[in-house]
Amino acid sequence: MKETIDRLRSDGGERIAAADTPAGIEALRVALLGRKGEVTLLLRGLKDVPADERPAMGAALNRLKVELGELLDARQQELAGGASGEAVEMDLTLPGTPPCPVGTNHPLVSVLESICDIFYGMGFSRGEGPEVELDYYNFTALNFPDDHPARDIQDTFYINDKVCLRTQTSPVQVRYMERREPPLACVFPGRVYRNETADASHSAEFYQIEGLVVDTDISMADLKNTVDTFVRNFFGAAEPTRFRPHYFPFTEPSVEVDMQCVVCRGKGCGVCGQTGWLEIMGAGMVHPNVLKGAGYPEDKYTGFAFGMGIDRIAMLKYGIDDIRLLYENDLRFLNQFRGVL
Ligand code: PHE
Repeated sequence: MKETIDRLRSDGGERIAAADTPAGIEALRVALLGRKGEVTLLLRGLKDVPADERPAMGAALNRLKVELGELLDARQQELAGGASGEAVEMDLTLPGTPPCPVGTNHPLVSVLESICDIFYGMGFSRGEGPEVELDYYNFTALNFPDDHPARDIQDTFYINDKVCLRTQTSPVQVRYMERREPPLACVFPGRVYRNETADASHSAEFYQIEGLVVDTDISMADLKNTVDTFVRNFFGAAEPTRFRPHYFPFTEPSVEVDMQCVVCRGKGCGVCGQTGWLEIMGAGMVHPNVLKGAGYPEDKYTGFAFGMGIDRIAMLKYGIDDIRLLYENDLRFLNQFRGVL
């Protein structure tokens, strides 16, 4: 029996080392240690061994059983890709797999920031005001008559008689002027709200950026140059702009600013309604009543202001044909802007 044990030890070890699949190891485990396995049969045969040799044989057989079991386990782990006992070459400096995809700015945020950057370049600073605003700042201080249609409950979300969701970023002009003396040049980006039914070009919430410059001797020419500098920097080409007379209660004179259609270059297409022009902002010279309301001495200062829809600018720049896409947070849409902006 002693020889059989020695033989099983050496050739069992070889057979285990030669097994090259997990299934092969399992088959060997059965063949050696299973209920009818070779080692098991030897253990059963112990009763036929002379009584004086039995304890030594029993101990040797048990040792063999443990050794073979350990060899089988080690080989099984090795085949499963575990420790092989050999030195594994690995580069500990390799970057790991990120736990989840890295986020990116929303296209509206990227456009907002790049617009602000252009104005910083022209010496503007940046401010902000509340989205829940007093009717006084949203309308009264901006020279809106009491019966102006924009105050209508149909357009404005009122919280109570005196408080509403701001319908424009213009109230921030007034808050800013109340606390500062000219010269001043500042942009105020932010979210505004209007009670509109959502469709491809309307949303009840959208973004505007307001600009305000006040000093002695500010003129319409300064406004025109500021607008043109913005268009040139943002759209990358010197698209012509034009001022169309308009009316806003808080500017006089007031204009709407158009730029030549970026799609058809002025020839007329679906995007510009065949006019060749795209409206990009409202603007004008700050109304004397607004300057007075801010506490500035009469006739000392002049200024210009403009207000631009950020959503519209983003849509023009990236050919987005439905404003609702900007608020639905559909990743199939948003992922298209990864690394683009
Ligand atoms: N607040 C105006 C609007 O929402 C835009 C504007 C701003 C016009 C500043 C003139 C000056 O339509």
